[in-house]
Amino acid sequence: MSPHTIADTHTIRSHFPALERRQGDQVVAYFDGPGGTQVPRSVVQSMTDYLYLHNANTHWLYPTSEETDALIAAARTTLAEFLGAHADEIAFGANMTTLMFHVARAIGRTLQPGDEIIVTELDHHANIAPWQALAKERGAVLKWIPLDVHTSHLDFDAYVRALSPRTRVVAIGAASNALGTITDVRSLIAMAKQTGAMTVVDAVHYAPHHLVDVRAIDCDFLACSAYKFYGPHIGVLYGKAHAIAALDVPKLEPSPNAGSERLETGTQNHEGIVGAAAAVDFIASLAPAELGSRRERVAATFDALHHRGEQLVAHLWDGIGRMPWVTPVGPLPNSSRTATVSMKVRGGSEAAARALAARGLFASNGDFYASTVARRLGVEAEGLLRIGCMAYTTDREIDRLLAALHDLRS
Ligand SMILES: Cc1ncc(COP(=O)(O)O)c(C=O)c1O
Repeated sequence: MSPHTIADTHTIRSHFPALERRQGDQVVAYFDGPGGTQVPRSVVQSMTDYLYLHNANTHWLYPTSEETDALIAAARTTLAEFLGAHADEIAFGANMTTLMFHVARAIGRTLQPGDEIIVTELDHHANIAPWQALAKERGAVLKWIPLDVHTSHLDFDAYVRALSPRTRVVAIGAASNALGTITDVRSLIAMAKQTGAMTVVDAVHYAPHHLVDVRAIDCDFLACSAYKFYGPHIGVLYGKAHAIAALDVPKLEPSPNAGSERLETGTQNHEGIVGAAAAVDFIASLAPAELGSRRERVAATFDALHHRGEQLVAHLWDGIGRMPWVTPVGPLPNSSRTATVSMKVRGGSEAAARALAARGLFASNGDFYASTVARRLGVEAEGLLRIGCMAYTTDREIDRLLAALHDLRS
């Protein structure tokens, strides 16, 4: 089925003031989306409106406090729709890493020595370090699912072998921020369920590219970060209602203990919460209104952007295929991947990123906190150059990038 028609790239770009930035005589091209996307006017406006017009702390009896309560409740509903959840299952926090440490600490209170936790070599360390710390504290056994460096996917057979009656936690990423690999978390979690393990998904790199469906994935917890999908710097956590209720979370006695609010510590980033909801609305707004619900429009936008992303990746892959000094890593174009392409560059990723930056091409380099991936690929020292294609990325920008990479040959 062909994707729905959504706003064209030119129209999408007009929403982002950052895209007008110039570097010398060049307009800046942002390839750093996997590290954090640019933010459209509507998101910034929602945050400004909040701070100018409704700013207050929560749960008091005057209008700005009531408005704050209403805006946060509405944002919970919006993020719930984004993830296919219920509003009571959405918590906000500083970022995904902080939320993950918080959940892990609470789960840790129930762990016994010899219990097993499964993590993967493909994950960002935000979904590894909290479990590593737990294993150390509680005497649990940490089992690693290896990355198959030939396919850029996890070793499925090793995963099956790792599951055991002692498995208490399975922590996996839905998409790799370093390689773009999409993992079939739904199948992995279905298998984990048979052991009774708690299942935790890192959707930080997946959520900006594909519609998350927590009911279909059937995980206990899933986290993402709004600043990766055109929103502000804030983390979003989904927890199944009964999994949240069962968590022995460290919390202040007087703070709310019902629903997902029990996962939130102290005063929240209200403007960030409002901005995260505005980011979801922005994504939905790119699809025709007649398509239906906000979730249906988000789905249509992601579908169409995925299609465009595949073309951009194919163009990029094809171009670097003619440059022996550049070696792409990760799954092939048109396979199960996001539009994030990492590559080894002769001379190292740092020199490459600097050379690109000088030409107004902003791209990240290093290991992107996916240090196990870098270790397995043997690029710890030289790092990778990472190109992220987002809603505002154009073919012309890929051409500029290819020209700059071409000039790195000498
Ligand atoms: C896949 C993935 N997981 C987790 C994180 C950490 O997210 P946060 O910065 O919200 O803690 C990142 C950030 O780059 C990421 O890409």
